[in-house]
Amino acid sequence: MQKFTLKINGQSHEVEADPQMPLLWVLRDRLGMTGSKFGCGIGVCGACTVRMDGSVTRSCVFPVAACTDRDIRTIEGLSEDISHPVQQAWIAEQVPQCGYCQSGMIMAAVALLEETPEPTDAQIDATMTNLCRCGTYPRVRKAIHRAARMMAQA
Ligand code: FES
Ligand code: FES
Repeated sequence: MQKFTLKINGQSHEVEADPQMPLLWVLRDRLGMTGSKFGCGIGVCGACTVRMDGSVTRSCVFPVAACTDRDIRTIEGLSEDISHPVQQAWIAEQVPQCGYCQSGMIMAAVALLEETPEPTDAQIDATMTNLCRCGTYPRVRKAIHRAARMMAQA
């Protein structure tokens, strides 16, 4: 066990963990941030997606020892009142079904829109590699386009 200081959503957190413990475990089990989900555990499904120094990161395969001195952002830090345009667009387009994949989808969509403010369907399909067993992909696309319009008007 080792002590680590992590900067998450702008706040400093002290945790004691095995250096190889994946960030997802630290977030959920040590810090009670359960918005990021465990799906596959092998970096494929994207349910555990967070941002690290702006990059989309699958936290289930990222050891805590590699997370110090990084700017970690989770779904909990997106807004305090579900007011982020991507969250609003998700609600308007009724994207979530079971909801399990959705925090990862939203984190990936936010990163996509920062990089590409008006993405085409092809760009969305190429970038949004998160898996959804409920098949929400068409709604995800619509919501990303809606969020892009909202962000352009803001
Ligand atoms: S749980 Fe991390 S990618 Fe599936
Ligand atoms: S909404 Fe159910 S897995 Fe995506």
